Amino acid sequence: MSVPGRDVARPYMATLAEELGKAGAIHTQEWADAFATVPRHVFVPQWYEQETNYRGITVWRQRSVGDDEALAAVYRDVTLVTGLDPATAKQVDEDAWTGMPTSSSTLPSLMAGMLEDLGVQDGHRVLEVGTGTGYNTALLCARLGDERVHSLDVDQALVDAAQERLRDAGYVPHLMAGDGTQLCPTAQTFDRIIATCSVPSIPAAWIEQLRPGGVLVADVALGIEGGLVRLSRGADGLARGFFTTTAGRFMPARSDALTHPVPEHPERPPSTGARPTGLTAAEIRGNYPLRLVLAFQMPGTEVVYYVDDSTGEMSFQLQRGDGSWARVPLAGDNQGMVTFGGDEGLWKQAEAAWEWWYNVGRPEQDRFGYARETDGSAYVWHLHDGTRWNLAS
Ligand SMILES: C[S@@+](CC[C@H](N)C(=O)[O-])C[C@H]1O[C@@H](n2cnc3c(N)ncnc32)[C@H](O)[C@@H]1O
Repeated sequence: MSVPGRDVARPYMATLAEELGKAGAIHTQEWADAFATVPRHVFVPQWYEQETNYRGITVWRQRSVGDDEALAAVYRDVTLVTGLDPATAKQVDEDAWTGMPTSSSTLPSLMAGMLEDLGVQDGHRVLEVGTGTGYNTALLCARLGDERVHSLDVDQALVDAAQERLRDAGYVPHLMAGDGTQLCPTAQTFDRIIATCSVPSIPAAWIEQLRPGGVLVADVALGIEGGLVRLSRGADGLARGFFTTTAGRFMPARSDALTHPVPEHPERPPSTGARPTGLTAAEIRGNYPLRLVLAFQMPGTEVVYYVDDSTGEMSFQLQRGDGSWARVPLAGDNQGMVTFGGDEGLWKQAEAAWEWWYNVGRPEQDRFGYARETDGSAYVWHLHDGTRWNLAS
C-alpha cells in the first residue's frame, strides 16, 4: 500500500488544527502548529471502522488511506481503531473482523486537550506511556524536539511500526517496548508524564520518575467510571491535582502485549425484587460527573449492559464481585423501576450518591480533587465541601 506524501495532506492537517482550535481543545499557538505539521495519515495508514455487516453482525471493517476520501477521513476528529486482540479477533469476510480493540489512534481533540493540560514548556523532557501509532509521539516531537521525547508501549510490534512511521515523518524520539506502569528502562526523571492507557491507580514508578514540581496527566479507571487527572508531584512524593475539564477514557493498561484484562464473571443470584426509583438509566448515562461520584462511592462495582434474552430489553446494570446486581431499563414503560438480585443495598447506595451530587449542585468533574499519598493510597475530594472518598489501592 502506498501512503500519500505529507504535501497532499497539508490542507487536511491545517483544517484539523483549525477545528481543534475552534472547539477549544487547542488554545496555544505551539500546539496549533504541531497539529498543522504532523501528518496523521502516516501513522494511521490503516484502521478499522465499526459497522453491521450483511449478516447483521457488528464487525470491524478495515480501511486504508489511498484515495482522497479515505485520506480526509483520517483527519476527522474521531478515534481510529488500529489493532484488534489477536486472541479474540476472527476474520468474518474479506476485510472485516470481530474482536476486541487493543490499540487506536486517540481522538485528536482528546489528545489536544491532554497535551494542553500537560502544560509543557520548551526544554521539558516528557515520558509518554502508550506509543500506539506514534502520532501523539510525533506531536510531542514537533513541540519539544525529538531528544526530549521518550515513549514506550507494551507491544513491541507497535513500537517497531511506530518507529518506522516516525522516521518516515522525520522524527527520531527515544522509543522502548515494555510495561509503562513499571520503571522506564532509561531510568531518567521527567518534567512531564502523559499516559494514553488507563490505570486503576497511579503507579509508584511514575511518581519516582517525575521530578518534584513535575506534572502527569493520566486516565484513572475507578470501576463504574474514571477520568483524566492532572497531578503535580511535590518534593515529598505526594501527588495532588484535579480531574480535568478534558473528559475522555482510554483502554486499560496491559501487563503483557498479548493479553488484555478480562473481567471476572461471578454467579449472579436470581431477581429478589423490584421497586420504583428516581435514578434512571438516562440520568446516569447522561451525566458523566454523576457516574464519577457513583464510582467514588461504590468501589468494586462495575457497569454492564444487560440484555433480557426473552424480551430483548436492554438495561443499565450495576454489579459487584459478591454477585449482587441492580438494573434499570434503557427504554420502555419501566424506566423508573429498579430490579435487583442479592444485596438490595447496592441500588440504595447509588441513590444516596445521586442525592448527594444533586444536593451539592450537580458539580462537574473538575470540582473534584485527586491525591496520591507516598504509600500509594489515593483519595478524591469535593473541592467545595471537602467530602472525601478513599479509593481502593
Ligand atoms: C489508545 S492507544 C494509544 C494511542 C496513541 N496515543 C496514539 O495516538 O496512537 C493505548 C496504547 O497503550 C498501550 N499499552 C497498554 N498497556 C500498556 C502498558 N502497560 N505500558 C505501555 N503501553 C501500554 C497499548 O498497546 C496501546 O498502544
